[in-house]
Amino acid sequence: MAASFLTELGQVLHEEHFRILSLICGLENRVAGGEGGRPIDPANAEERANLQALTVALDQIIDHNRFEESILFPLIYAGGGGDLTALLTHEHDTIGPLARHVRSLATAILDHGVDGERWDAFQSAAKDLVSEMMSHLQKEEMAVVQRLRLFLDTETDHRLAERHLAERPPTRIKIAFQ
Ligand SMILES: [Fe+2]
Ligand SMILES: [Fe+2]
Repeated sequence: MAASFLTELGQVLHEEHFRILSLICGLENRVAGGEGGRPIDPANAEERANLQALTVALDQIIDHNRFEESILFPLIYAGGGGDLTALLTHEHDTIGPLARHVRSLATAILDHGVDGERWDAFQSAAKDLVSEMMSHLQKEEMAVVQRLRLFLDTETDHRLAERHLAERPPTRIKIAFQ
């Protein structure tokens, strides 16, 4: 569905989801490949910058989920979408620790270099995160972003979109591994 059919907040969240999707697709490509792929080399300036951008982006994903849980989901719940918010919150509970785990492995590679064991752990955690995030984003786009007008009145939607843009501009989300 084209963005013009979305509410204001829908467009803001859609853009964030798109940036998160770009990030995780880049990550997926970087950790994929035959024989496990070549390890990320933190001594290489470009790879180091990507890894650093990833750690920032993972914090932003956690923060994005926090916004949804604290502001958005209660409104959807109040609008009769209790089953939906329970499912999405449950997925956040899986994604949060995974994102923190990938972040700590990325930091370990940045601080101490990469070896086979650390790379294996990073690859495996990154793949888990990518698959959880992909299905979560798909679900939220279909069930929330494109249906926001069922849950929020125009004024609430407008107010939340303005506040969100002021506090969390979508372009803050770093895209690594492009
Ligand atoms: Fe989301
Ligand atoms: Fe979410």
